[in-house]
Amino acid sequence: MKGIILAGGTGSRLFPLTLVASKQLQPVYDKPMVYYPLTTLIENGIREICLISTPHDLPRYRQLLGDGTAWGLAIEYREQPRPEGIAQALLIAESFIGESPVTLILGDNLFYGGTEFRQAFAEFQAGALIFGCHVHDPERYGVVEFGADGRAKSIEEKPKKPRSNYAVPGLYLYDNQVVGITQGLKPSQRGELEITDVNIAYLRRGQLRVARLSRGFAWLDAGTSSSLHEASAFVQTIEKRQGIKVGCPEEAAFLRGFLSLDQLATLTSRMPNCEYRDYLAGVVAEARALSKGG
Ligand code: TTP
Repeated sequence: MKGIILAGGTGSRLFPLTLVASKQLQPVYDKPMVYYPLTTLIENGIREICLISTPHDLPRYRQLLGDGTAWGLAIEYREQPRPEGIAQALLIAESFIGESPVTLILGDNLFYGGTEFRQAFAEFQAGALIFGCHVHDPERYGVVEFGADGRAKSIEEKPKKPRSNYAVPGLYLYDNQVVGITQGLKPSQRGELEITDVNIAYLRRGQLRVARLSRGFAWLDAGTSSSLHEASAFVQTIEKRQGIKVGCPEEAAFLRGFLSLDQLATLTSRMPNCEYRDYLAGVVAEARALSKGG
């Protein structure tokens, strides 16, 4: 499975923050927003990643993430000249996707907790797999309606009268049919290639599965000033209380076996003195003690 991070868009709701820096580079507590979806991909075993952003912002992402080798990843970059829809990412990344299945994650979505993603990535074989998350404001998202059998019955993009409280968060798993399906889409009334239309196409083929996220799962999107602040507060609360970091790609790469302990130690030693380095030094020390003990 390959992964796409979509980090373009206009970020107009975060004006003036986004006048000079892309939304997904803004800090969520102690790290850039894009670290969180990147970590979600790594945690689920994805090493080959394509990041898509605007021609203006792409150089900053290259500067931040490089080609990924430092973290045991292979990161490619592609431009989206205009924000013509989330599904357009699947066309822009066509040569990257090749013959592979692919997961698409939005650069401003932050996920924490639960085991649903791990299970979904492990079990995924064909068709499309998306998620349903209970929210209080479903009308802002794609909304999924479930039938009595627990299967998805309908999906609507930003409906005025939502048929359920289950919104579709910004993480989607697709088999290789997705490129052909997206090529056949027409732009919506707002002039975008809609990811909801991709999901509806799979639904019509009887190949869409929607997994409901449990209560133990947190989904935040950081697209407005309030939600950005809330996401920072959430991360700070978890990190302070539990002494772990949320959205730490280096740690995730180590835990997933993309980096050896020695590689993680070297990476950490090159960081400036800061709390982030102290944390990773602690991870290294703990792993060393465990390996000696074992
Ligand atoms: P939105 O938050 O819907 O759009 P936006 O980021 O342009 O923000 P605003 O509404 O404040 O102007 O987009 C959701 C995510 O998808 C976000 O991470 C940006 C990304 N995106 C793209 O990269 N390209 C696109 O064409 C669209 C529609 C969204």
